[in-house]
Amino acid sequence: MLKSLPHLLQPTSYNIYPMLTTPYIWKNGKFVKWAKAQTHVLTHTLHYGAGVFEGIRFYETKKGIAIFRLKEHVERLFYSAEAIDMQIPYTKQEIQKAIIATVKKNKLKSGYIRPLSYYGYGKMSILAKNLPVDTIIAVWGWGAYLGTKPIKIKISPFTRINSKSTIITAKIVGHYFNSILASLDAHKSGYNEALLLDNDGYVAEGPGENIFMIKNAVIYTPSLGSILPGITRNSIIKLARDLGYKVAEGKITPTELKKADEAFFTGTAAEISPICAINKSKMKFEKGPITMRLKEKFMKIVHGENKKYGNWLTIIR
Ligand SMILES: Cc1ncc(COP(=O)(O)O)c(C=O)c1O
Repeated sequence: MLKSLPHLLQPTSYNIYPMLTTPYIWKNGKFVKWAKAQTHVLTHTLHYGAGVFEGIRFYETKKGIAIFRLKEHVERLFYSAEAIDMQIPYTKQEIQKAIIATVKKNKLKSGYIRPLSYYGYGKMSILAKNLPVDTIIAVWGWGAYLGTKPIKIKISPFTRINSKSTIITAKIVGHYFNSILASLDAHKSGYNEALLLDNDGYVAEGPGENIFMIKNAVIYTPSLGSILPGITRNSIIKLARDLGYKVAEGKITPTELKKADEAFFTGTAAEISPICAINKSKMKFEKGPITMRLKEKFMKIVHGENKKYGNWLTIIR
């Protein structure tokens, strides 16, 4: 697999391969060589985690390379920056253009885009005010983040960060330590991925994914409140409703999830990943029929094979 697609990482379970580099990274308005895209050890975000980022995918289509829901990802980047009082010194349009330019410059046909705005070198106070804001955009090839097989997930002993202690709807660098703890724990116990519960013990989300379950042909997903409002989640809700499924957002208990017929994760990196077991309990289906139908339809959309959702794609020629 790696031979035929040299720029794509193809894991069997979780993407733990070293990153394959691309020639250029956009940094503060200029392209710099990958190896030269460095920062000072006293970079503020490195110490305190106040930074914001996005994960975006692009795919090969018949019309050219397509970036999936670029506008929404850039909107969320600026929403996250606003949430922490960070002023990104570019407009949304400028960041969109820079993302397109970075994809073009690196000549990849498909992969992952990582825009990140962080507080750079200057001052070390925890009061994150009047600090320099640096912005980078990197791209790299990334295959299926959680592998190509159905995954086993472990309910984490760590509670998901909550809306009383942070701005949960923003994609903030520091939030990911909670995700890292959950991932390490799940991996140590031989699972592919973790599932975090909220403060009240209801199902929240994965370390980098939203979750859905299906029972008697109805699709359920946790409502907004203790999760990142995922762009893939939003796309799947729209797609499923368009296909005639009933989709309900609400509170889900771990027991309800274990007794569901099907379950899957959604996320930019994870795309649609079927879940075959939760802790020791196996799902009724390894690859549920509704999950697989949604996955197939979703993959067609991202590859430009469904005109109805053409406005979700930014085509680069
Ligand atoms: C914690 C968390 N939840 C959910 C998601 C899924 O969001 P999206 O579909 O926008 O990638 C992500 C990934 O960005 C995430 O990090």
